[in-house]
Amino acid sequence: MCGIVGAVAQRPIADILIEGLRRLEYRGYDSAGLAVIDPVTQQLRCIKTAGKVQALSDAEHAAPAHGVVGIAHTRWATHGKPEVRNAHPQVSGSSIAIVHNGIIENFQEIKQELCAEGYQFASDTDTEVIAHLIHKIWQRERRDFFGCVRQVVARLSGAYGLAVINSEQPDSIIVARSGSPIVIGVGIGENFIASDPSALGQVTDRFIYLEEDDIAEVTRDKITIYNGTAPVNRETVRLHLDNDEVLKGHYRHYMQKEIFEQPDVVKNTLQGRISKTQILEQSFGVAAKAFLDKAKSVQIVACGTSYHAGMVAKSWIETIAGLPCGVDIASEYRYRKVLVPQDCLFITISQSGETADTLAALRYAKTLGYAGFFTVCNVANSSLVRESDVALMTFAGREIGVASTKAFTTQLAVLAVLAVALAKRRGLSAAQEKDYVKDLNQLPQTIVDTLALDADIKQLSNDFGEKHHALFLGRGVQYPVAKEGALKLKEISYIHAEAYPAGELKHGPLALVDADMPVIAVAPNNELLEKLKSNLQEVSARGGQLYVFAHREAGFQNNAGLSVLNMPHCSKFLEPIIYTIPLQLLAYHVAVLRGTDVDRPRNLATSLTVE
Ligand code: G6P
Repeated sequence: MCGIVGAVAQRPIADILIEGLRRLEYRGYDSAGLAVIDPVTQQLRCIKTAGKVQALSDAEHAAPAHGVVGIAHTRWATHGKPEVRNAHPQVSGSSIAIVHNGIIENFQEIKQELCAEGYQFASDTDTEVIAHLIHKIWQRERRDFFGCVRQVVARLSGAYGLAVINSEQPDSIIVARSGSPIVIGVGIGENFIASDPSALGQVTDRFIYLEEDDIAEVTRDKITIYNGTAPVNRETVRLHLDNDEVLKGHYRHYMQKEIFEQPDVVKNTLQGRISKTQILEQSFGVAAKAFLDKAKSVQIVACGTSYHAGMVAKSWIETIAGLPCGVDIASEYRYRKVLVPQDCLFITISQSGETADTLAALRYAKTLGYAGFFTVCNVANSSLVRESDVALMTFAGREIGVASTKAFTTQLAVLAVLAVALAKRRGLSAAQEKDYVKDLNQLPQTIVDTLALDADIKQLSNDFGEKHHALFLGRGVQYPVAKEGALKLKEISYIHAEAYPAGELKHGPLALVDADMPVIAVAPNNELLEKLKSNLQEVSARGGQLYVFAHREAGFQNNAGLSVLNMPHCSKFLEPIIYTIPLQLLAYHVAVLRGTDVDRPRNLATSLTVE
């Protein structure tokens, strides 16, 4: 999604704004802009460019924007094409500028009203209505700008995180949050705002998170926050944002770095949660126990890659813990009639903790009578963490590549521990627990062994450079793995890829199989192996080219139509984690070969804070 940054300082801020946008570029990058108030002339100066933040930086260097108060934005288009006129800030008159994340649902109605009063619209955005509405009220009242913005915000429906400046009131920024995060970065004699604290790591380590429906006036030395008509206090938290983390090091892309970080981040995520022989359930926090004791079933809700983690977790929770488990895509769940069984535990899974659909699903679920709300999440202080009873954090570190990799495997590590914790309540013996925990303890090393296949997979990727389609097959718990592999490939290489449970091949997709359709299969040595082999025969018989990631004892032989890549030995339990890794590497190498922007694929964003 889009990114917002702003500053009210005593020093020039253009470089701070642009650096903040660079750090947020993983959220959206089709156009960018900034607006500052010149301290001498008190005029608003706005620069906007199409494309990445570098274009904005070049434009600003060519004609510097002098200012000590300002706002900036990097955009992921929702309303209106990614063109300069639709980039933010959106401006009204000569004094008001606004940046906005989210979607204003009643913008057409407000637009009609403003058009009737003579306002002319220069963009196709929903955001421009907010700028004009603020302008209209400010022209009428000419006092208490904070109050004017509060009146406007009260008229908006939808989701927003926004920041406004007014060159006629040049010493403040006003920010508001409803459904899309905003933080205030606290400085000394200067303050900052952003949609994500990572934008401000270079200027402060103290942050105030706005809560839902908060609106704040931020000046150099004062922060005033209201919720409704009442002033409120919000805690200041200290965050240690490790800047090294955002550097690529010797890797060519963030995605590559993040794939290779998996042994470490999975280890971090498991640390403190397992001993040599046991699950350490107290690491879930004191609140978790009562919910786990009570749970008779589980409902998981998530989007994208996190949804695939949910599909794997469903299989674990049902087979290991013997509890019924449902899994839904959040954008569907939030609009369907749901029947909630008694004592059902609701779990969201999300890397960012800010995905609008997942958050809305949680809020909807809270009206339905679930027994408790867990989230598996990578971002402390995110909305999902704050609104859930229990947060099971993944310690993946910041994920910058848009195609999620280490977030997925750390989610699975947490969910595996959770499945065993639930199983313990339903008769899992100490010996069985010990076996599962042994597997988990070996997991980081097995990931290292799997990453050693990188060179072979790079070699394999040469076959995919010219392809337009690919089919991924898996069975049982490997079906979500196949889905994740297909998602990775389509996201970053733009090759159309689909995943099927292999048994379903004959019911349609087999019609597509020919020499131009590579078929990738994940084939651990499990009880479905022979069934999978029969399905793959159906592909070979039709001249399809097969690529099989197989257990070395699965009995596949390389031949003209079949390329086999032998996987290291791993426990059956954790095969979904291990078999995902070669598919990440395959997608990565194919994308590099095709010359796409691996970390910032077209049209996508890391965190989707709009519906
Ligand atoms: C976007 C990202 C995906 C991610 C999904 C859910 O589509 O590009 O990588 O899986 O959102 O995000 P979440 O933060 O909720 O896991």
